[in-house]
Amino acid sequence: MITDLDIKKKWFDFFTSHGFKRIDSASIIPENDATVLFTTAGMHPLVPYLLGEKHPAGNRLCDVQRCIRTNDIDEVGDDWHLTCFEMLGNWYLGSCPKDEMINLSFEFLTDKKYLGLDKSKLATTVFEGDKTAPRDEEAYAAWKSLGIERVFFLNKHENWWALGSGVGPCGPDSEMFLDTGKPLCNPDCNPSCDCGKYVEIWNDVFMQYKVKEVGKAAELLDNPNIDTGMGLERIVAILNGAKSVYDVGVFKDAIDFLSTKAKVDYTSNDRAKRSYRIIVDHIRAAVFVLGDKRGVVPSNVGQGYILRRFIRRSVNHARNIGLDTSNFDRLIDIFVDKHGVDYPDLAENRATIKEELFKEVEKFSKTLDEGRKEFDKVLISIEKHKEFAAKNGEKVENIISGKAAFRLFDTFGFPLEITKELASERGYTVDEADYNARFIEHQQKSRTAAAGTFKGGLADSSVESAKLHTATHLLHAALQKVLGQEAMQKGSNITPERLRFDFTCDHKMTPAEIKQTEDLVNEVIAKNIPVKCEEMTLDEAKKSGAIGVFEAKYSSKVKVYSIGDFSKEICGGPHANSTGELGHFKIVKEESSSSGVRRIKAVLEK
Ligand code: ALA
Repeated sequence: MITDLDIKKKWFDFFTSHGFKRIDSASIIPENDATVLFTTAGMHPLVPYLLGEKHPAGNRLCDVQRCIRTNDIDEVGDDWHLTCFEMLGNWYLGSCPKDEMINLSFEFLTDKKYLGLDKSKLATTVFEGDKTAPRDEEAYAAWKSLGIERVFFLNKHENWWALGSGVGPCGPDSEMFLDTGKPLCNPDCNPSCDCGKYVEIWNDVFMQYKVKEVGKAAELLDNPNIDTGMGLERIVAILNGAKSVYDVGVFKDAIDFLSTKAKVDYTSNDRAKRSYRIIVDHIRAAVFVLGDKRGVVPSNVGQGYILRRFIRRSVNHARNIGLDTSNFDRLIDIFVDKHGVDYPDLAENRATIKEELFKEVEKFSKTLDEGRKEFDKVLISIEKHKEFAAKNGEKVENIISGKAAFRLFDTFGFPLEITKELASERGYTVDEADYNARFIEHQQKSRTAAAGTFKGGLADSSVESAKLHTATHLLHAALQKVLGQEAMQKGSNITPERLRFDFTCDHKMTPAEIKQTEDLVNEVIAKNIPVKCEEMTLDEAKKSGAIGVFEAKYSSKVKVYSIGDFSKEICGGPHANSTGELGHFKIVKEESSSSGVRRIKAVLEK
């Protein structure tokens, strides 16, 4: 049995022996990036460095990053998809030696000391070229020279990597696949086919381009990079000869446990199997989100909404297999025991994870019964409508309207997935386009941020965002002077238009406190103090009195940004060069964020 720990060790042994520095996993909830809700890949927390900022650990890095991706959520339950996973990654910052990276990839995959995969079972893909970028002959030649027979040229859809927001560093990639031994489904079958013949294991992205704004064309990056990512759970399954990620490791333990408690067996039918898998995937994801040091709680917006979906779907699938949801308690322990070692915040927050998860389970269980009744009423009314229409020789499709689906969500807390699932069980579909239009309208009305509705963010590293980032440091320092050291940062989110800053504070700030804070920040701006960046060890940073998240375990050096003796913070940047660039700082809102946490929104006026 090869475990995830074995693979992590091999990964770090291999890359550190080739001069790559190990860095820590960032939080699963991104800071200072409004373009996405969760960290979706190892490169995500490194975006500023991929756009040219200097990384304190140097220009060759490796790590294992906890990630959440929800774009494949409907696929979860098949053999290979997960919403929450760990990604092994390595980076060349500021250079793009494709053949060197391809050689390293090949060595790690095939050398017996590392993964020891049979090279005849490997297939790779490279970018076929289009108007943005040429055909990747270099990557092709590199694979061929290593004796890989099956190298496929594929289009942008398959072999181009960019963040989900479409903004930021991007470029052609080269993906590595393992042939599972299944027959070709047709003579043209290639790794882009989802018949199951090929399983993707690793992706080398050649980040030679960047997109500055949504919809704008890609431009060449001055300092190109290489970003690679390998899904840990997949590679563990493959190396153990398993047919699915759910057949090994912590997922197997979790499913074995549920099997002793549920009324319907895991193997009794595909539907039950899918429900078991969705439950273990989603509860694990919920553990990572709730347990994160920037943890959020279930809500109707942003990360909280996704978390709510994870938990509510799990409750619904528990019903499918006759599982009492009280068993989630042990399930949480299985995941926290396993992952709390590498991610101590999960272990520290075990009690909170349980408390918040069960609060949501309870809330949902109550409304689920009611909601299912409402759902049945919707179907009855459609059936009646059909009968009536049939009398007039008309036909009514089995479609649940967006209006009805949205009402189920809005009034009864039914996530769309559940409506869709119940609908498909009865041979119905849902008018999702209309549902989505209503959902977006609802979000805009409640003036909330959710995935995709913001553009920009610090990930764009625009001049405006950098200025607001510097203003955030000034604000943080000013709040500590006005409110005391207890005013600790809880979260920060920057778009090119405004900053948002959450901090601990037990009362609503008085108008005098707000004014005092603004004045302090504006005084520092007026003095036009240069923003200084130094690299030092974490210990030195602590001793120097820098504030910030002291989470580094493997990264030996950190960057410390200071602004005179007013502010000193551990931070990745980027920042303005000096405070005089900022303009006039103005707090536009001070409100409650959650219990004991206040939120400030502020802008820089020209
Ligand atoms: N960022 C690349 C991916 O997620 C490596 O596939």
